[in-house]
Amino acid sequence: MALLEVKGITKTFTRRKKTPHIVLENMSFSVEQGQYVSLLGPSGCGKTTLLTVMGGFLTPDSGQIILAGNKVEKPGPDRGFVFQNYALFPWMTVKENILYSLQVKKLSQREQKERLHELLEISHLFGSENKYPVQLSGGMQQRVAVVRALASRPEILLLDEPLGAIDFQMRELLQEELAALVEGAKTTVVMVTHDVSESVYLSDRVIVMSANKGQIVKDVYINLDRPRDRQSPEFKGYVSEITELVRQAFSEKAVDIELPSGFAETNVNYNSQASFTDAFNRMSNRYSRVNHGRAAK
Ligand SMILES: Nc1ncnc2c1ncn2[C@@H]1O[C@H](COP(=O)(O)OP(=O)(O)OP(=O)(O)O)[C@@H](O)[C@H]1O
Ligand SMILES: [Mg+2]
Repeated sequence: MALLEVKGITKTFTRRKKTPHIVLENMSFSVEQGQYVSLLGPSGCGKTTLLTVMGGFLTPDSGQIILAGNKVEKPGPDRGFVFQNYALFPWMTVKENILYSLQVKKLSQREQKERLHELLEISHLFGSENKYPVQLSGGMQQRVAVVRALASRPEILLLDEPLGAIDFQMRELLQEELAALVEGAKTTVVMVTHDVSESVYLSDRVIVMSANKGQIVKDVYINLDRPRDRQSPEFKGYVSEITELVRQAFSEKAVDIELPSGFAETNVNYNSQASFTDAFNRMSNRYSRVNHGRAAK
């Protein structure tokens, strides 16, 4: 039996005086124990919505999420969640941030200390445990967020663009660290990303979603040994294949797009697919940052 089953998930958002927006319709797939699965797709296609449904933060209109045989109905320690931009508690030190996740497990003081020690070790954060998030680099904050999510030994780790805010130079290095962290913890992962190369580097499977109603365009299995060689023709072959699938998924969006307010001000030429996609992503990212901030509270 699969560890995680996404069964016929439908989610519609309704806003006053607007036609209901079907974000996900009858979406189904399953994830095996130990698999690393990435979700890739155009901005606004429902990736975060799906991840928050899996996390138990959002209830679907219909369908079920089954984790290790149990129906997900609310958030729980069996799921570690890393929100976009990490969402560490800024008033807590690294140690306090990690220990916070251990509270739900009702561990003894000694067990907490041991687990903390183990987590600081796998994340190379020894010596920084008494620092506050603001005193850490982006990469260190990301590691705290991941080990905090791992603290309660979740069945599954749900990552929403965990490297979204990291600059290009740091990204590849942090992808390697993330791979090592997850491998060390032997955890199953579902990760949302916008970065095709990142998805190929880290995943066993990449699920490409369409812009429209979160349909699965293709479920691509990445059959490459680890650690992966980004320069190999096979790696580049997967990147090209998936980039093309995402490009196709983007072009669908142009048909029934609802422009966010302020979109017209960017003055783009809507006849050009490239500039359209680019501008849409810029606007949508701006919107989703606000959206994520709200959801994380
Ligand atoms: N709470 C909400 N109320 C109304 N609409 C929402 C809400 N949350 C998300 N949406 C809408 O649902 C759609 C999917 O949003 P979601 O955040 O899941 O997209 P995404 O694929 O994660 O996008 P991105 O790649 O930009 O993060 C968007 O059109 C968004 O406007
Ligand atoms: Mg998102």
